[in-house]
Amino acid sequence: MNEPPRANWARALVDDREFKHEQSRLGHFWTVLGITHDVKNDGDWIRATLGGRSVFVQRFGDTIRGFENRCAHRSFPLRTEDKGNGPVVCGFHHWRYDKDGRAVGIPMCPEMFGVTPRELDAKLNPVEIATCGSLIFGRFPDDGATGSLEEFLGEGFPILDAMCTIAGPPNRHKCVVKANWKLSIQITLDD
Ligand code: FES
Repeated sequence: MNEPPRANWARALVDDREFKHEQSRLGHFWTVLGITHDVKNDGDWIRATLGGRSVFVQRFGDTIRGFENRCAHRSFPLRTEDKGNGPVVCGFHHWRYDKDGRAVGIPMCPEMFGVTPRELDAKLNPVEIATCGSLIFGRFPDDGATGSLEEFLGEGFPILDAMCTIAGPPNRHKCVVKANWKLSIQITLDD
């Protein structure tokens, strides 16, 4: 018997390769990574997932930056918990990064690599960050991903901005849906 045709959107539900490919593409779209309340103090950081990859978002003074959670040296995860506060220092060989993701402190750099950290110019993979109300969005840079968050959200931007500006500590509710995320979306469309 022939298999019934499967809608394109449903492919990633059952095909692991399609799922990974889809996740990787989604990493270039603005995605909610957290809320500003969690990074309100200098040095606060949170870990999140973007396009199936681990990332972290951190406050440096009055700016919020994001990076893939992978050391430029040997890919060790820089953040091994969900949240915290402190400089970006890899737990493996102690490379230290600045707010632009540049490795500015590398133990024994001239002895190991024959150059200074500045000359080595090793960098973390950046995540573009933008906010709407208290929501922090991020995306991996891409030649095709040029629109601002405001353009991406269109008419929804001021609505979300008004709805999601949290004055005090947020009330958190967590609900894990043991299904592909698209099924939840499709159900809301049905409703
Ligand atoms: S893997 Fe991070 S410093 Fe070596």
